[in-house]
Formats: sequence, C-alpha cells, structure tokens
Amino acid sequence: MLRVIQWATGGVGKAAIEGVLNHPELELVGCWVHSAEKHGKDVGEILGREALGVRATARVDDILALPADAIVYAPIIPNPDEVGALLRSGKNVVTPVGWFYPTSSDGAALEAACQEGGVSLHGTGINPGGITELHPLIFSALSSAVTFVRGEEFSDIRTYNAPDVVRWIMCFGATPDEAMKSPMLKVLSGGFIQSVRMCLDVLGFSTDAQIRTKQEVAVATAPIASPIGEIAPGLVAGQRFQWEAVIGERVVVRIAVNWLMGEEHLEPAWTFGEQGERFEVEVQGDPDCFVTIKGWQPATVEAGLVRNPGIVATALHCVNSIPYVVAAPPGIRTYVDLPLIAGRAHPDLSR
Ligand SMILES: NC(=O)c1ccc[n+]([C@@H]2O[C@H](COP(=O)([O-])OP(=O)(O)OC[C@H]3O[C@@H](n4cnc5c(N)ncnc54)[C@H](OP(=O)(O)O)[C@@H]3O)[C@@H](O)[C@H]2O)c1
Repeated sequence: MLRVIQWATGGVGKAAIEGVLNHPELELVGCWVHSAEKHGKDVGEILGREALGVRATARVDDILALPADAIVYAPIIPNPDEVGALLRSGKNVVTPVGWFYPTSSDGAALEAACQEGGVSLHGTGINPGGITELHPLIFSALSSAVTFVRGEEFSDIRTYNAPDVVRWIMCFGATPDEAMKSPMLKVLSGGFIQSVRMCLDVLGFSTDAQIRTKQEVAVATAPIASPIGEIAPGLVAGQRFQWEAVIGERVVVRIAVNWLMGEEHLEPAWTFGEQGERFEVEVQGDPDCFVTIKGWQPATVEAGLVRNPGIVATALHCVNSIPYVVAAPPGIRTYVDLPLIAGRAHPDLSR
C-alpha cells in the first residue's frame, strides 16, 4: 500500500480523502489543515463520517516528519516553498494548483527539490489538468493533420461551494471595472497558459505561436439570488476567459471557461445553449472530432453545494495519478512523461 497524506480539507481535499479510502493501492496516513479549529480532529470527523484513526494537524513539521509516499496538495493558495519542502522530505506531490507543464525556468527550483528528495511533482485536475490539454491531446491521436484543438467549460458558478473564492478572488458580485482590473485573468493564466503550451509542443505547432488572452463580463439586469448573496443589477454575474494560440492569423489552440450565475437576467444575455452545462473538447484535423462531457456538473445548484462532481473529478485525477507518479523517475512529471492514468474498479460490484 502507498501511504498518502492529504494537504488541506476544502472541497478538493475532502473528495481526495474519500478517493484514497476507496483506492485499493492507497492508505491515508496523515492530513494537514489550515484551520486551527480542525487541528487535532480525527479526519473522519472533518468529513462527517466514522473515525479513521488519522488526526489532522496544522503543523507543517508534523507532516514533514511523517513517513509517506505521496501528498495530495490542495490548499486554496499554493506556496512553492512549502511544496519544495514536501518534496525534499521525500514525498511525491500531486496537486491541482499548478505545475501542469511548467517551463524549465519556472520549474527549476522544484525540479531540484524533486531530485534532492528522489521524488516527483505532478500537476493535474480537470481544468486545467484535464479538459484543457490532456483530453484534446488524447483525442488528437485519432486524427492526422491537426489544425486546431479546443477545451472549454460551460458551468453555473453558483454550484462552486467556495464563496470567498467566488466573491473575492473571482470577483462575481463586483463592478465590471473591479472585475476587469482584478488579478483574476493573470491568476488563471498561470495554469491555462501551461495547457496551451502543452498542446502546442506535443502537437508540434510552430514555436512562434503567440498566446493571447481575453476576459469578458456580463452583468445582472435584475437581482440574482446566489450563494454569495444577491447580485444587484449592474454587478458581475457572468465571466468568460479565453486563451488562444495564434500562428499568423490562424487560431490553433483555444481554451475557454464560461462561468455564469444561472442563465437569467444577464446582459449580454449569455446562456449555456441547448446542451446546458458541459465540458467540450474539439479537434480539427482528419477526421474532425467533437466531444461533449456531461456528469462533471451537478444536477442542481443545491446538489453542487453539497458535493460538486467537478470538484470530485479534480480530486480523483490527483488520487488516481499517485501509483504512476510514485513509480516515475524523480522530477517534475507531466502527462507527457507519465503512462496512462486510470481509475480502479469498485471493490463490490454486487452493490
Ligand atoms: N486544476 C483544477 O481543475 C482545479 C479544480 C478545482 C480546484 N482547483 C484548485 O484546488 C485548490 C483547492 O480548491 P477547493 O475547491 O478545495 O478550495 P476550498 O474548498 O476553498 O478549500 C481550500 C482549503 O485550503 C485551506 N486554506 C484556507 N485558507 C488558506 C490559506 N490562507 N493558506 C493555505 N490554505 C488555506 C483550507 O483547508 P482546511 O479546511 O483543511 O483548513 C481550505 O478548506 C484551489 O487552489 C483551487 O484553485 C483546481
């Protein structure tokens, strides 16, 4: 069994713990928490289930000293120094917060930490870390002469149960000017530009592609009820972010997210379209390929606030990568380096 530590118990962290408990090759041995009130609690209590015999700690030194094979690192704000210390302590790190496809200069310090600890760092998730680079590349394998790939999300942001993030980091409920001047595009670009670069490099598009970014907002035209409070008319209730790689006049990679507070009372009158919430992957080549993924969005806003399948999928992409990351040679290991990552069968098919 591979010993796993969970770092932070937000939406992703709690789903990752469940994923570790369900995985036949993994066992939970430790847990770091940011919140002082969770320190010392049994992890089962934090999840609202039976005791697991593993106590959470808010002390980093406890985690560094704990023998383990891997850490699922899922705090709200990534700290590269912290990740470096975890790697140097000899623990593989899998994470949805970054390092999907860092440049050699961006990744240099953590590459050195990997080599020192004899372990690997793998950035993964759903978006980035799935739909925006892994899945277009997987489907490109069934086409030749590829001219364009796309990964795009269409989600109701009211189902993302991280109200402080939605209000204060993503700027929903802010004025359009505040949202456009916020660091959000820059923060998101840190991950999504890595996705664009992975597509460009792996598909072999010319190295002089230019990457351009775009942010658009929609405002409420009437009060919109939401988990972050009522969005008053004139305030931000929808946002679209887009990253495109362009060669000459031709767009060769497009990654986009469409996050709306529902589909009513928006100006411009954005909707999800006939297919509703979804993720899309597209490859233009010979042949073209269009993939729509359903199931990663909850059926209702209320269900999403209890357990959001997109957050669960993010956590499981981390958890399921652990056996492959542990087996990999030390270093920053992206999808380009790792073998096929798969989930595991349910242990009891009679249920
Ligand atoms: N790549 C992807 O596809 C993808 C998808 C979803 C999320 N993410 C990323 O994954 C991370 C976790 O997301 P989430 O939805 O789980 O967020 P979340 O529910 O807001 O939870 C994050 C946890 O971080 C800890 N925390 C709070 N304040 C902190 C601080 N100042 N410094 C360090 N840790 C702090 C808390 O842990 P405790 O409760 O244990 O104290 C909190 O529960 C975020 O960075 C998010 O952007 C990536």
